[in-house]
Amino acid sequence: MNDLAYPAPSASRLAARYRHDLPAQTIWNDTLDLLLSHRSVRAYLPDALPEGTLEALVAAAQSAASSSNLQAWSVIAVEEPARKARLAALAGNQKHIVEAPLLLVWLVDLNRLGAIAQAREQPAEALEYFDSFLLGAVDAALAAQNAVVALESLGLGGVYIGALRNKPLEVAAELGLPANVLAVFGLVVGYPDLARPADVKPRLPQEAVLFREQYGFGEAGLRAVEAYNARFREFQREQGLPEQDWSAQAGNRVRNVDSLNGRHMLHDALHRLGFGLK
Ligand SMILES: Cc1cc2nc3c(=O)[nH]c(=O)nc-3n(C[C@H](O)[C@H](O)[C@H](O)COP(=O)(O)O)c2cc1C
Repeated sequence: MNDLAYPAPSASRLAARYRHDLPAQTIWNDTLDLLLSHRSVRAYLPDALPEGTLEALVAAAQSAASSSNLQAWSVIAVEEPARKARLAALAGNQKHIVEAPLLLVWLVDLNRLGAIAQAREQPAEALEYFDSFLLGAVDAALAAQNAVVALESLGLGGVYIGALRNKPLEVAAELGLPANVLAVFGLVVGYPDLARPADVKPRLPQEAVLFREQYGFGEAGLRAVEAYNARFREFQREQGLPEQDWSAQAGNRVRNVDSLNGRHMLHDALHRLGFGLK
């Protein structure tokens, strides 16, 4: 479909996100504009963040929904360069962690609920079950994503750091985590270096992810992925990146445990960190 059929500015935002076969979009506002403009930033200026930024981001994070309002997450703000460097080394030497002034480490935190139960002289059996871990991970992700939207609204950039789970025990030691707490991912925050700009990465056509009433990824979905491969290559070409189909990239990422960079041992590490996971 011709993207000129859409009212500006949604046309350009949708075109950047999907490139072709744009979804019907008659509804638009500034929030959608911001959300569709997201891109992970991996090049930062060393500039400090304005006073109060951290607190504003955490207020946004705490405004996310929380399962049963248990608020089973916490966040550690790491600004000390030496500690950031050690965490960067544990996360596959990602230079943007060192470059940016702030690393937020998001925690699944079942310790707080356990401590509260203990103070009330009550058991906290539910915390020993896998669902409590999952609840904490979902809560942490929702909170962090609210912080991402907030920081992008302030003209800042961010990138998640899942690689902190490569070495969960070492990260726990670095951050002084008690039992029942996992650093589930990091989030680098800073001013994007506009000399090394990040662009909006196209996503799968909605046909491949949006089903109505019942699950429906099949032949049509595979064709949509094929179409996406070409758009993804176009994006890589523009960025000066080596060209590779998205499906090849995704296939390689899930082919075997090598790409997990140690995370295939996460279940064992979680037990060591005190999680029951029953
Ligand atoms: C939970 C999570 C962990 C991630 N971990 C990393 C990471 O360790 N390093 C990195 O450079 N990007 C990381 N990313 C960013 C993704 O690579 C990125 O979101 C994806 O390629 C889509 O690009 P975009 O965010 O620019 O749209 C992570 C994203 C998520 C959601």
